[in-house]
Amino acid sequence: MFNSKFGSIPKFYVRAPGRVNIIGEHIDYCGYSVLPMAVEQDVLIAVEPVKTYALQLANTNPLYPDFSTSANNIQIDKTKPLWHNYFLCGLKGIQEHFGLSNLTGMNCLVDGNIPPSSGLSSSSALVCCAGLVTLTVLGRNLSKVELAEICAKSERYIGTEGGGMDQSISFLAEEGTAKLIEFSPLRATDVKLPSGAVFVIANSCVEMNKAATSHFNIRVMECRLAAKIPFLCGGLQTGCWNSGVCHLCILFGELLAKYKSLQWDKVLRLEEVQAKLGISLEEMLLVTEDALHPEPYNPEEICRCLGISLEELRTQILSPNTQDVLIFKLYQRAKHVYSEAARVLQFKKICEEAPENMVQLLGELMNQSHMSCRDMYECSCPELDQLVDICRKFGAQGSRLTGAGWGGCTVSIVPADKLPSFLANVHKAYYQRSDGSLAPEKQSLFATKPGGGALVFLEA
Ligand code: GLA
Repeated sequence: MFNSKFGSIPKFYVRAPGRVNIIGEHIDYCGYSVLPMAVEQDVLIAVEPVKTYALQLANTNPLYPDFSTSANNIQIDKTKPLWHNYFLCGLKGIQEHFGLSNLTGMNCLVDGNIPPSSGLSSSSALVCCAGLVTLTVLGRNLSKVELAEICAKSERYIGTEGGGMDQSISFLAEEGTAKLIEFSPLRATDVKLPSGAVFVIANSCVEMNKAATSHFNIRVMECRLAAKIPFLCGGLQTGCWNSGVCHLCILFGELLAKYKSLQWDKVLRLEEVQAKLGISLEEMLLVTEDALHPEPYNPEEICRCLGISLEELRTQILSPNTQDVLIFKLYQRAKHVYSEAARVLQFKKICEEAPENMVQLLGELMNQSHMSCRDMYECSCPELDQLVDICRKFGAQGSRLTGAGWGGCTVSIVPADKLPSFLANVHKAYYQRSDGSLAPEKQSLFATKPGGGALVFLEA
């Protein structure tokens, strides 16, 4: 196909995998560790550098039209998440990192088998693959950590304020092991998954493109505001509103005075709040209950708390696509984030200690994660909830939505000996169409193992 598109043959190939997040949802952009693994599905690009500035992109999938532009004038249209824009994000990230205004052109044919808009990071895989293609064309070197950081940042050109999980695992993954990904500084540690269990991905078949709606960015903004509000509005700033009996006062009587002087307006992430207070995640949950109220906040109340105008809220804190949001559920979002961050650490600990009932314990954490995503973070949907129930009914010890949510896939932990019956029953229960026919199993429901990270294949 490359030959028929460009009349030449590729000089090298690059692959970057998608991922499944086992636990730790919507907490990477709050600064907390997550626990994903790479899947074997990936984006693969065949590349031929050319001597002009022409950048020509083609896709093996006819749904994605060819695209060409000049490599020294990259424009990324935030209004439409078109496929080639993800390629341009990766390219622009590398271009900017090296401060290059001109780039040589290339012919690229993109292929991929990660189901799109399904929570398995097909878009980040394309950004990472394009970043590595560009680096290889330039003949330069960067570490995997640097590449991951550059690609996480440059994917935001598309308009979504994602954390760094997807790009990090795409570069740092290693076959046979899941990874605990920690941020600031970015690092990845092996997490050995239980040998007696299999992780199964099931697609709800509800497509969700996080760049096409504002759901994702609204959550990022809610977390950002939750990090700023409690200590300005609650006990620290104005004196205790619970007559001295709130957890904030009981736990940290002395800390209150100390932290009063901190510049909360500079705080962006919930993890920074915890680090500044120097208390545990469990204590942060108690503090959240006192410092935030469960009723949604409106922009006026937020402005009052922060002492800023609506205009300042919009221009200094909110993203372009969240300017008109009228309701911010800060209490619920913060509770999800702190509890989910604690579940990630518990999950890793259980994997390390490997108790006899480890599959059951890990499953319980995954179930709790789903409940929190559904009720506190409100990033599930009826189909995902139904699929999770079906998976549990047919033998999963735990099941949860994975990725951004609002559609896409679930991940379940299934005892190895139950796998064949689990697959058969879930397939029948969720994928049987009203006419009795079944959706193709291969792409919708499959067991997966930790795969390897991004690679360049050069001709010998
Ligand atoms: C998307 C983002 C990630 C992460 C997940 C939710 O995949 O790109 O950074 O926030 O959603 O956990």
